[in-house]
Amino acid sequence: MSGGTGGGAGAERMRKVCIVGASGKLGQYMVRHALERGYEVVGVCRERSVPKLAAFQGRMTIVPGFTNDPDVIRRAVAGCDGVLTVLVPWGVRQYASGTAQAVLDHARPGARLVFSCGWHITRDGKDTYSRWFKAGVWLAARLGRLLRAVEIDDQVEACRRVFASDTRWTVVRGSSLEEGESQGLPVWSGHVGDPVLASNLTRRVDFALFMVAALTDDTLVRQAPAIVGRRTPSALAHAGGLDMPRG
Ligand SMILES: NC(=O)c1ccc[n+]([C@@H]2O[C@H](COP(=O)([O-])OP(=O)(O)OC[C@H]3O[C@@H](n4cnc5c(N)ncnc54)[C@H](OP(=O)(O)O)[C@@H]3O)[C@@H](O)[C@H]2O)c1
Repeated sequence: MSGGTGGGAGAERMRKVCIVGASGKLGQYMVRHALERGYEVVGVCRERSVPKLAAFQGRMTIVPGFTNDPDVIRRAVAGCDGVLTVLVPWGVRQYASGTAQAVLDHARPGARLVFSCGWHITRDGKDTYSRWFKAGVWLAARLGRLLRAVEIDDQVEACRRVFASDTRWTVVRGSSLEEGESQGLPVWSGHVGDPVLASNLTRRVDFALFMVAALTDDTLVRQAPAIVGRRTPSALAHAGGLDMPRG
């Protein structure tokens, strides 16, 4: 297992951050964490979702538009030291890969780019999945395509482009999610299948915490951490044995 995000060298460089997909559940938690850290925040969301950010009125800038629109992203990421991007497989028009590509193309060179996705994304093919997990992903992909609602393959393509880029990226791979009070920074492993991840559950608020903390953690550059809640049985079992989950 690998420990939490230690912060450090990147911290003093982070002043202004863009949150792409700010109006969703994960996005709103990230806005809150970023504001708490004193960052200047720019959010991108669909025009019709702007009201979802009303609670942050006056504390952030909103650039309304589709997140896969290169012009929207170019304007939103201007001058940003970090970009947090929610990659979602919704729709059947390459929304995730278009969003990732726009961020990769327009973020300033050297900016920290942190992307969200799920455990189903593999970077090196060394993740091991239970039969149930694989069946669930297969079913979601088939049903999603049938209903023209979800395009899991395109989220895979989005991450492939991120992994292939020479930017300072991190792809955070979320477990199953639940709502609830923060339990602190999740713990992570480089590979799904590692016993520390067995509980397969993270609070959404803590997924967001990890995303924001990754901005200033240079040890996570070009890593694809798979995360799990630090108070879950598998994380605690590991903490009692070899290593304490750090945060
Ligand atoms: N849900 C899970 O159990 C789970 C598990 C593991 C990993 N993850 C990852 O966690 C991240 C957040 O997922 P979430 O499920 O918690 O969702 P979420 O935070 O609520 O975000 C959903 C996002 O998708 C946008 N969206 C919804 N419908 C759309 C459409 N038809 N076209 C374009 N955009 C649309 C939303 O924008 P609006 O606000 O404009 O609607 C919002 O930005 C994702 O990267 C996901 O892969 C989720």
